[in-house]
Amino acid sequence: MSTAPTLTLTRPDDWHLHLRDGAALAAVVPHTAAQFGRAIVMPNLRPPVTTTAQALAYKARIAQAVPAGVAFEPLMTLYLTDATPADEMARARDAGIVALKLYPAGATTNSDAGVTDIRKTYRTLEAMQRLDLKLLVHGEVTDPEVDLFDREAVFIERVLAPLRRDFPALKIVFEHITTREAAQYVESADARLAATITAHHLLYNRNALFLGGIRPHYYCLPVLKREVHRQALVRAATSGSPKFFLGTDSAPHPAHLKEHASGCAGCYTALSAIELYAEAFEAAGALQRLEGFAAFHGADFYGLPRHRDRITLRRERWTLPEQLPFGDAVVKPLRGGETLAWRLA
Ligand code: NCD
Ligand code: ZN
Ligand code: ZN
Repeated sequence: MSTAPTLTLTRPDDWHLHLRDGAALAAVVPHTAAQFGRAIVMPNLRPPVTTTAQALAYKARIAQAVPAGVAFEPLMTLYLTDATPADEMARARDAGIVALKLYPAGATTNSDAGVTDIRKTYRTLEAMQRLDLKLLVHGEVTDPEVDLFDREAVFIERVLAPLRRDFPALKIVFEHITTREAAQYVESADARLAATITAHHLLYNRNALFLGGIRPHYYCLPVLKREVHRQALVRAATSGSPKFFLGTDSAPHPAHLKEHASGCAGCYTALSAIELYAEAFEAAGALQRLEGFAAFHGADFYGLPRHRDRITLRRERWTLPEQLPFGDAVVKPLRGGETLAWRLA
């Protein structure tokens, strides 16, 4: 393994990010903007971002939270509902919206307005396919009969495979994949299907949730899986395949709502995202593959230019803060209070 003291790469992008709104937004945007040139911003606010006008207003609020002198471009998405009108798609496309997000109703945080039956969205999906708007999916079924740990694999059979047959030209991102089944499915599919992988799913298996007691800051959806799945994700991310790219799914919640009888799902990783990915890639002996995964594959899939500027990581041990201000609450980053091996210069 190389022990070079620095690692320089083309500036990366985050292809799956939650920024929230209001004071929380102001607290987290600087962390992402310090690392990434662009980010795909998830629309699961309350109320959800369902129209082009709402997305543009949200984009302006994000821009206000970017520190002066920092170049950061939020890429906006709309929240797909059963009632999203097909004719909204042309407006969205013209306004620079890049994608729609499919949340199966009830699958995750703020998904109650999500899609109850994918067939209800078919006219809108046809318009998206024609206009080259991407479809981003939270890939879990919500059927209570299906074991929580199997919901992603079952989603492939029940929803994703039929959807791809019906819309062969639609570009789809299977977001935050967590299983060997998903990695294999994406790998064997054509170039219109890609996947994002989080740093936490590369670093941890489900044991992390229960180490020495229940650990709510490791709880996200889709939930961490067995070690075989983590290993499959590491293989996919470090394979060099352009179908896999960086998406932190950094999803901040007030700490008191995670340390709670029914704690919220979502891990906060934005402050140290690229450092966490570097650690995962280094452990796999694949640091040389980090740049493609973090800076090239996503841009190429979305048809956007790669960045020209670079970032440098230093091999330096430092302690991640245990908590950070988050509006009138605090947010506790994943790995807070622990040591990291790399640090963004
Ligand atoms: C996300 C959130 O909090 O918005 N939570 C999560 O556990 N990943 C929602 C999501 O991406 O599913
Ligand atoms: Zn999700
Ligand atoms: Zn997410």
